[in-house]
Amino acid sequence: MVRLKDVSIIFNKGTIDENRAINNINLSINEGDFITIIGSNGAGKTTLLNLIAGTYLPSSGKIFVNDKDVTRQPEYKRAKYIGRIFQNPLLGTSSNMSLEDNMMITYKKGFKGLTISLNKKMRQFFTDHLVQLDMNLENRMKDNVIMLSGGQRQALTLLMMVLSHPDLILLDEHTAALDPKNAALVLELTTRFIEEYHLTTMMITHNMSHAIQYGNRLLMMDSGEIIYDVEGEEKKKLTVEKLVEKFHQIKKKTFETDEVLLSGE
Ligand SMILES: Nc1ncnc2c1ncn2[C@@H]1O[C@H](COP(=O)(O)OP(=O)(O)O)[C@@H](O)[C@H]1O
Ligand SMILES: [Mg+2]
Repeated sequence: MVRLKDVSIIFNKGTIDENRAINNINLSINEGDFITIIGSNGAGKTTLLNLIAGTYLPSSGKIFVNDKDVTRQPEYKRAKYIGRIFQNPLLGTSSNMSLEDNMMITYKKGFKGLTISLNKKMRQFFTDHLVQLDMNLENRMKDNVIMLSGGQRQALTLLMMVLSHPDLILLDEHTAALDPKNAALVLELTTRFIEEYHLTTMMITHNMSHAIQYGNRLLMMDSGEIIYDVEGEEKKKLTVEKLVEKFHQIKKKTFETDEVLLSGE
């Protein structure tokens, strides 16, 4: 479904701050994949999603979506089929617009070019969906989104995204800014929607047990590279301890290789 071929991005090229944040990544994402992504700060997780979403264009390499080369396609065009949720709940919805207007805007995105208006039937449709969130938001359709809590906003963003029928969703630590109770709620909702709507998903998390528990595939990133890619039965057998051990094993190997290279052997 999505394919990255030899993708690299170099920030601040030619300066003292030059940084190869993504280093020659090759990755194939299959339809229906639910991929969790882990890695230390600065590993390149967010940058990887930025490249897929078109926020940044790669310095080299190619990106394909359904075999179409989208390497140079701008972000707003990719937003038509890629849904995204960030850590900051304020980014997913417009504060000074009502819930129903927010929902309408995103809903229209799924019906390119068709004229759809916010009539009684549409309101009922939104109400029916809001009920699924179990947050009583169906009775607050006229409230401005600014009145909602962070958890409610993330849940609404999630629902709106689902209604726009994206081919791929990108979640960047989207529960990290919430209190534990709301974080758990939003995560539960996320996994329920992913399953119900068969959403192809990439989810960055800093919680190793979540990364193991959810999804069919796990990527571990370090220094702009995918250093571990595991799926299916092998993923199911992972534990946090094994994952940490794996990380150190791979890091040590890289270190040793570097040492060998440096010593000229
Ligand atoms: N817009 C940017 N300009 C310059 N450097 C950036 C930019 N975005 C990310 N980086 C750098 O790229 C590296 C990877 O960052 P990021 O993808 O945000 O890591 P992660 O999400 O894994 O914590 C870091 O060294 C970061 O400083
Ligand atoms: Mg990040």
